[in-house]
Amino acid sequence: MRLLALNGSPRGPKSNTRFLTDEFLRGFAATPTNQAQTLDLARPSDRDQALAAFWHSEAVLLGFPLYADSMPAMVKEFLEELATRPRPEQRPTLLFLVQSGFPEATHTAPVARYLKRLAGRLGCVCAGVLRRGGIEGIRSKPAWMVRGILQRFRQMGETFGCTGQLDPQTLQKLAGRERYLRFALRLVCWFDRVMFWDRELKANQTYDKRLDAPYACP
Ligand SMILES: Cc1cc2nc3c(=O)[nH]c(=O)nc-3n(C[C@H](O)[C@H](O)[C@H](O)COP(=O)(O)O)c2cc1C
Repeated sequence: MRLLALNGSPRGPKSNTRFLTDEFLRGFAATPTNQAQTLDLARPSDRDQALAAFWHSEAVLLGFPLYADSMPAMVKEFLEELATRPRPEQRPTLLFLVQSGFPEATHTAPVARYLKRLAGRLGCVCAGVLRRGGIEGIRSKPAWMVRGILQRFRQMGETFGCTGQLDPQTLQKLAGRERYLRFALRLVCWFDRVMFWDRELKANQTYDKRLDAPYACP
């Protein structure tokens, strides 16, 4: 299978979206005949290449971070431009990847519904929407904290590369809980803070200033 992977993060190659996409593609490459090309929509030359290649691809994976409960403006702009281009009879299978800062699956649910409808409007089959929350900071978290999630993305890539499909139940599992109980959410946030954010602050010598409010009214 020939897969075109599009990274819709404004952070480009150093983004969390790219990090997860690369892991998916590692699994996808387990089938020796598979070929993948990755383009970063944040780069104007890649964006133009993506617009030219999209309709002629066998499958397209479009990944992006959740921005204000939706997609980054550059992704929306790309989709709008794409819809104006002539479409061939044979259209690519679409697959989406949406990852967010907040951990609960409820945040990515509305945009996932939109993406499935969008695939239909473009006349394409939607193979699924990979969704996962709590991704901010994944590139700098210790390996043991992210091993499980990366393994899942790899497995998804391997399955898609082998069958051209993804099972809705596995996708649901990847997305995780719709909502956490308030206590559980506090625990997750506390754990994340202690294990990651506080360390980042200390590493940047800003931990002591974390409660500063320089613009607060006296
Ligand atoms: C402008 C902006 C808006 C965001 N809006 C949301 C949001 O509505 N919900 C959420 O869970 N995360 C939100 N985030 C967090 C990103 O989805 C998260 O940090 C993601 O992992 C960034 O991925 P990237 O490195 O691929 O860009 C937002 C981040 C930015 C910069």
